[in-house]
Amino acid sequence: MKPTQATNIILLLTSLRVFPVFLLNLHHHFYLRLGPTSKIGFYVVSAAAACHVDDETGLLGFKSGIRADPSGMLASWKKGTDCCKWSGVTCLTGDRVTALSLAGQPNNLTTSLTGTISPSLSKLNYLDGLYLQDLKYLGGPFPDSLFTLPKLLFVYIENNKLSGPIPTNIANLVQLEALSLQGNQFSGPIPSSIAELTQLTQLKLGGNLLTGTIPLGIQRLRNLTLLHLERNQLSGPIPDLFSGLSNLRSITLSNNNFTGTIPGSISSLAPKLAYLELGHNSLTGKIPDFLGKFHALDTLDLSWNHFSGTVPKSFANLTKIFNLDLSHNKLVDPFPELHVRAKCGIKMKLDEWKPAETYFYDYIDLSENQITGSPVKLLNRTDYLVGFYASGNKLKFNLESMRFVKSLKHLDLSRNLVYGKVPKAISGLSELNVSYNHLCGQLPLTKFPASAFAGNDCLCGSPLPQCKA
Ligand SMILES: *[C@@H]1O[C@H](CO)[C@@H](O)[C@H](O)[C@H]1NC(C)=O
Ligand SMILES: *[C@@H]1O[C@H](CO)[C@@H](O)[C@H](O)[C@H]1NC(C)=O
Ligand SMILES: *[C@@H]1O[C@H](CO)[C@@H](O)[C@H](O)[C@H]1NC(C)=O
Ligand SMILES: *[C@@H]1O[C@H](CO)[C@@H](O)[C@H](O)[C@H]1NC(C)=O
Ligand SMILES: *[C@@H]1O[C@H](CO)[C@@H](O)[C@H](O)[C@H]1NC(C)=O
Ligand SMILES: *[C@@H]1O[C@H](CO)[C@@H](O)[C@H](O)[C@H]1NC(C)=O
Repeated sequence: MKPTQATNIILLLTSLRVFPVFLLNLHHHFYLRLGPTSKIGFYVVSAAAACHVDDETGLLGFKSGIRADPSGMLASWKKGTDCCKWSGVTCLTGDRVTALSLAGQPNNLTTSLTGTISPSLSKLNYLDGLYLQDLKYLGGPFPDSLFTLPKLLFVYIENNKLSGPIPTNIANLVQLEALSLQGNQFSGPIPSSIAELTQLTQLKLGGNLLTGTIPLGIQRLRNLTLLHLERNQLSGPIPDLFSGLSNLRSITLSNNNFTGTIPGSISSLAPKLAYLELGHNSLTGKIPDFLGKFHALDTLDLSWNHFSGTVPKSFANLTKIFNLDLSHNKLVDPFPELHVRAKCGIKMKLDEWKPAETYFYDYIDLSENQITGSPVKLLNRTDYLVGFYASGNKLKFNLESMRFVKSLKHLDLSRNLVYGKVPKAISGLSELNVSYNHLCGQLPLTKFPASAFAGNDCLCGSPLPQCKA
């Protein structure tokens, strides 16, 4: 259970002294779309189109590369009208187009474009930002036309269908400050020439088909705040290249095929790093002590690796952590107490803060380790807990002594050493699994299937066989 959705606000409580902590997810890139609707003013009707002829030609060329536009994103793009007023087009400096931003709704297939990115984009000589996001069927290779755009600073070609290699001459874009190609089908290696893009603050290549290793030259990208390479097929050890990258706030390398240990140079990121996601790889060794010094860390995901040994005692100092996933490793007890020291006042912000779309997550996932003891005290203090996942451990406690907070919806304690009766309070859950423990006695009225209760010592009653009188 990893709350990594881009727009999520994540909330997690993990300690004996707990108060909510908030975080505005850094993964999301916010940008302002300016279009015809955002312009207020009086226009003198005039026969002459206001935008530069090169820009009009370039944009109409782009449009002719689009074979399907079911939601009419480009409907306002008509020859002879002011291209600065076309939807998705911004002219900040007089008659020259400075940004092109076309974005579909992430889960709405109607808001898509089918086709390729026309080379005529090279005519937009004043373009500084290209945002082509969630268009779904926009395909073809990386647009070489970008290499001749002298003012280009921001490239976000995200969640489309571009494919082929990331070209070596990407190095031509030396002035680039942000490059995101995430969510496409780019394949082959990350070119080592990427090291030339020394102004980059964001490099996001996640969700492609990239192979090979992380180029060492990335250590030259000293302005990087985000390095996102998750969900590819990258392999080899994570290079020890972080010592100079002191601006990094977010590293996501999860869901690749990385091996070896967590490189020591990550320790130099301790003052600022907020996200470290290394889950779903083949990393080995102990969880390094130095992670306990990452006082700004909000999210630490080391799940689904081969980490062994104990959770370092220094983790007690991870005072801001609220999304900790250590599940599916070979960790052994004892699990240290986490002292999350959030200010009490933060709780009040919960009521004050009312954005249109908010999700609060509060999950603890410790499943598939060898953790012993009882979570009863921890759970007694987590007032907003939504999910507790701890299957496949050695937790030993009386289920009747556990407090079921109202917010709790998901509880998986399967394959532990839990004893006692199944309490009535389970009726408030939407997901339950207490199979393969040492529970006994009559089940309360329940909607959960037999497999949620299977493999216990002496449970009985529907959906299991009747109790003997
Ligand atoms: C998808 O987008 C189209 C075009 O903007 C819109 O008409 C439709 O209502 C959207 N569908 C949903 C489910 O939001
Ligand atoms: C990169 O860092 C240098 C040195 O701190 C700074 O002068 C420059 O403005 C930064 N570039 C960007 C694009 O942030
Ligand atoms: C990961 O590496 C292993 C061993 O080298 C290999 O067998 C496996 O196919 C790789 N997986 C992927 C997704 O590349
Ligand atoms: C926590 O941090 C303090 C101050 O930096 C240090 O003295 C202490 O040893 C740390 N605790 C652990 C368990 O590492
Ligand atoms: C849980 O907390 C309540 C007060 O909040 C306390 O009375 C009770 O003893 C606690 N139970 C456990 C098992 O710690
Ligand atoms: C409960 O967990 C067991 C063992 O992991 C699994 O076989 C079973 O399908 C699960 N049942 C439900 C309802 O999740």
